[in-house]
Amino acid sequence: MSLEDDFEWYADWASDVSPLYERLARGAADDPTLLDIAADASAGQPAPQLLLGAVHALLLDGDEHALADFYSTRTDDPEAGDPYPHFREFCLTRESRIRDIVRSRRVQTNAVGRSAVLVPAFEHVSRIAGRDSLALVEVGASAGLNLRWDRYRHEYAGYGSYGPNSAVRIEPLVRGDVAPPLSNSRPEVVRRLGIDLNPLDVTDPADVRWMRALVIPDQRRRHERLRAAIEVAREDPPKVIAGDALDVLPDVIAGLPEDATPCVFSTHTLYQLEEDGVAALRDALARCSQRRRQPIHWLSDDPFSERGVPTYRYALLSDGTMEATRLTEYQSYGEWIRWLADSGR
Ligand SMILES: C[S@@+](CC[C@H](N)C(=O)[O-])C[C@H]1O[C@@H](n2cnc3c(N)ncnc32)[C@H](O)[C@@H]1O
Repeated sequence: MSLEDDFEWYADWASDVSPLYERLARGAADDPTLLDIAADASAGQPAPQLLLGAVHALLLDGDEHALADFYSTRTDDPEAGDPYPHFREFCLTRESRIRDIVRSRRVQTNAVGRSAVLVPAFEHVSRIAGRDSLALVEVGASAGLNLRWDRYRHEYAGYGSYGPNSAVRIEPLVRGDVAPPLSNSRPEVVRRLGIDLNPLDVTDPADVRWMRALVIPDQRRRHERLRAAIEVAREDPPKVIAGDALDVLPDVIAGLPEDATPCVFSTHTLYQLEEDGVAALRDALARCSQRRRQPIHWLSDDPFSERGVPTYRYALLSDGTMEATRLTEYQSYGEWIRWLADSGR
């Protein structure tokens, strides 16, 4: 896809969630000057989110400009007119700072709402494995906020509440008529570790600002949830090692305890690896399952539906072969799930 198409695609996607971002992305798609700034994004990185995130980051720093009046993170009563002329002017007058951010940062949205999918997915794995202890490795963990999934409260409309009382509350609707596998006796996590090309640090103000900048300004609930999740993570920062998962995963898996079920998971990461990277990851996991003589359980977005309705998938890698099942469709930030799989029990 061309950069222009990327912006059009993003504008279509944003039309359901943010009139502000839809208008800004649509405007930039038609604006060669702004496309040129966005073209500084590194290969494989989503340029629309980086450009919008860079502008938002400067506004979150308190930059005084008429554009701020359109952002809910800067005012309680956002302007209703056309933000695009202000956005354009903002980008042109701060071009070199915006280019620096677009060049150096990655899209690392750490969305804890996605743990709405992880809770039943981990239960699914533990039922299949027939064991209650998991060794979790998250690929593309960003700041590792989803590694702390079991410190959040999950309320599945009509299907009960799970987890401790927490300032982080995830409240997904459950669509369809298949009950997701949920249990009050959650699997014990005996190891949890993240891998990221560039781990974000919940104690570093610049990293925290970037995480906030990646959240769409109109989505107040997501901003509140992110703030609460960062507070939880600061009490006991999750361990996220720096590296390319394709390089470090084999050693990480070799170091997992043998009496636990090895479960490698990711949310919204595979699209950044692209097709070759996903195939290499699958092959690496298949080799690990041979070497360990133990199945590896792999949870991830279905690499083939990432740009449609996100679909979460379970794959069992055993003795070098892989068998995959679709677990659930879901809204990108965990607003709803539609469980698809037969999870037994
Ligand atoms: C869009 S973010 C999603 C973060 C988190 N999983 C979530 O859903 O909130 C994708 C993350 O994957 C990381 N990433 C991309 N390619 C990677 C690779 N080859 N190895 C490790 N991390 C990678 C990026 O740095 C980024 O933090």
